[in-house]
Amino acid sequence: MVAHPFDLLTVDQLRQSGSLKWSAYPDSLGAWVAEMDFGTAPGVIEAAQETLAHGLTGYAPNYLVADMQEATAHWLQQRFSWSLEREQIRPLNSVISAFEAALFHFSPTHRPNAPIVLLTPAYMPFVVAGSRFGRASIEVALRQGPTGWDLDWVALERALQGGALLVLVNPHNPLGKVYTREELTKISELVEQTGSRVFSDEIHAPLVFTGATHISYATVNDAAAQHSITAFAATKAFNIPGLKCAQLVLTNEEDREVWSAVGGVPEHAAANVGLAATTAAYSTGAGWLDGIIDYLDGSRLLLGELISEHLPQAEYQPPQGTYLGWVDISRLNLLPSPAEFFLTEAQVSLVDGSACGKGSDGFVRLNFATPRPVLAGIIHRMGAAVDGCDKFDASDPEFATQNPVY
Ligand SMILES: Cc1ncc(COP(=O)(O)O)c(C=O)c1O
Repeated sequence: MVAHPFDLLTVDQLRQSGSLKWSAYPDSLGAWVAEMDFGTAPGVIEAAQETLAHGLTGYAPNYLVADMQEATAHWLQQRFSWSLEREQIRPLNSVISAFEAALFHFSPTHRPNAPIVLLTPAYMPFVVAGSRFGRASIEVALRQGPTGWDLDWVALERALQGGALLVLVNPHNPLGKVYTREELTKISELVEQTGSRVFSDEIHAPLVFTGATHISYATVNDAAAQHSITAFAATKAFNIPGLKCAQLVLTNEEDREVWSAVGGVPEHAAANVGLAATTAAYSTGAGWLDGIIDYLDGSRLLLGELISEHLPQAEYQPPQGTYLGWVDISRLNLLPSPAEFFLTEAQVSLVDGSACGKGSDGFVRLNFATPRPVLAGIIHRMGAAVDGCDKFDASDPEFATQNPVY
């Protein structure tokens, strides 16, 4: 079998890259923060370099923004059959800034300080948003069913009563769930009935595997378009979150009026390299992305095989999208912090489920966007640490990570 080029990347090379994932915990194998180990598309690198070569180190010229709006509109049309006016697509530096815009400007107008409703487990910054911004936060836990993760409709309806800001992350981080049209439609009905609003975070939308289809929330019906604001970015699919560019999509005319008064300052924070890189990603990166999705598709299944073999006490359903695995290790009794256990005993860095909201203590989030041999090394190490409950021996050749076999 011919090795995939990504399989040949070594741990030493990854460490030398100096990325956050590989430098924060210097001796561990990095499977925590949502970065991929595969660089980015060649056109993206070229565009970012050209921006600097042209001396565009000042504020964003209008044409860089216009190019990004044009490329995003084309991408959304091609990928998700969503037709938008260029002006509906606004530049920001990050999806978290888009969330803050939703919180401050697009919460239900009849209920100042409306609570934030999260579908948990949830992406960590959303879990702490309530306390950061002095808002009540209601967690509605998704439930594991025989075919995947299901919404608790009764609890959701209760949480939205009186009007709330629902944070809908689709595809879901950390579950990798891709919501169906039926689910999105039902959500839109509850949101409409309760006078709530939706912040639809679709940052992972391009990273969906065979068998699932991403549907943008605002496209399910007119009510959804009116009561939601959407955030997109090329940053996860093309691995460029450090370049600081995201897109806020406004599909409600009144929101656009509000934004025209308050949006100038946050829009100013989008970076020139990020704008140019996003334009390049959306207009020239589809082929590169297809290769990434193909590799990740194999890796999400490989992760299941590795877990069955080396960590049989754990449970894992391959995600429908994203490159994040949500692994139930509750049977191992590693509380209070399984991530701490694996960091010290296996030298593997993960995210604790407890960071994703209540009831997730027995889980860890594992980033599998890494070379498959490294993924194998990660699970070998975790299994060995659990079996021995002993210090992981990095010198043991079985766990060598230079060229591990899987
Ligand atoms: C669901 C989700 N939203 C937002 C973000 C953060 O995006 P940004 O860096 O653009 O704020 C991430 C990062 O992983 C994410 O997974």
